[in-house]
Amino acid sequence: MRAELLFSLLVCACTASFAAAAPRSSVPPAPALAPLPPPPTVPREVGLASFAGVLSVLQSPRCQNCHPAGVAPLQTDAGVPHSMGITRDSPQVGLDCAACHREVGLDLPNLPPASPHWHLPPAVQVFEGRSPAALCAQLLDPAQTGGRDLGALREHVKHDPLVLYAWSPGGGRTVPPLSHEAFVESFGAWVDAGAPCPAR
Ligand code: HEC
Ligand code: HEC
Repeated sequence: MRAELLFSLLVCACTASFAAAAPRSSVPPAPALAPLPPPPTVPREVGLASFAGVLSVLQSPRCQNCHPAGVAPLQTDAGVPHSMGITRDSPQVGLDCAACHREVGLDLPNLPPASPHWHLPPAVQVFEGRSPAALCAQLLDPAQTGGRDLGALREHVKHDPLVLYAWSPGGGRTVPPLSHEAFVESFGAWVDAGAPCPAR
């Protein structure tokens, strides 16, 4: 009985290795598919509600003033164009943002707020005046996020010094409507829901 079992096991092993060594059929292999995104771990409705929170931060004055639709950065909670005619071209004509916006500054009203590497993002990274659907689509398009995918954006909103600036702007300036922790949490929940976008 035992010998019989051993024999059949051997036969199996032989045929298996023979099959493995057999020449491959001439059918070309199927083209590799792009990896599927991981399945959502957060319900879509929760993701959409979280995105509303994300949006309320992106379009709050501290963020939006540096992500304007026009050529000039904006100032104050009213979003008025930057004083002294500052535009995104000012650094090219020799007036660097950091000439006034230093790494550390005085916590007094109307002085230039301070943070390392103060500058404007590329002209496509606009938060001002974007509809929720348009801003959502923008975040999903690496051509408009500086090549960042959702994972990289998540890291950006967690650690970037210019993002963190918004929660300690000094000079009596207001801060975004969510805490930084709640903002990062909402951003993560939106991503984990599969990054759903609102219809409008
Ligand atoms: C001083 C100007 C400044 C402020 C203030 C600022 N940003 Fe930005 N932001 C930038 C610059 C510059 C980049 C581009 C950085 C890069 O690509 O390396 C950027 C890029 C981004 C990006 C990635 C690109 C995109 O648009 O998808 C996100 C997301 C972002 N900022 C969110 C925020 C949020 C949220 C706040 C407020 C909490 C904020 N930013 C405040 C200057 C600013
Ligand atoms: C000549 C000095 C000067 C230069 C150069 C300058 N700024 Fe400013 N900036 C200021 C001052 C002063 C304020 C504060 C205005 C106030 O609060 O009344 C300010 C405020 C801002 C604000 C508003 C911050 C907030 O949280 O609302 C943004 C955004 C800004 N500057 C972006 C820039 C960018 C981007 C550049 C370079 C392209 C730049 N600034 C160049 C002086 C300057």
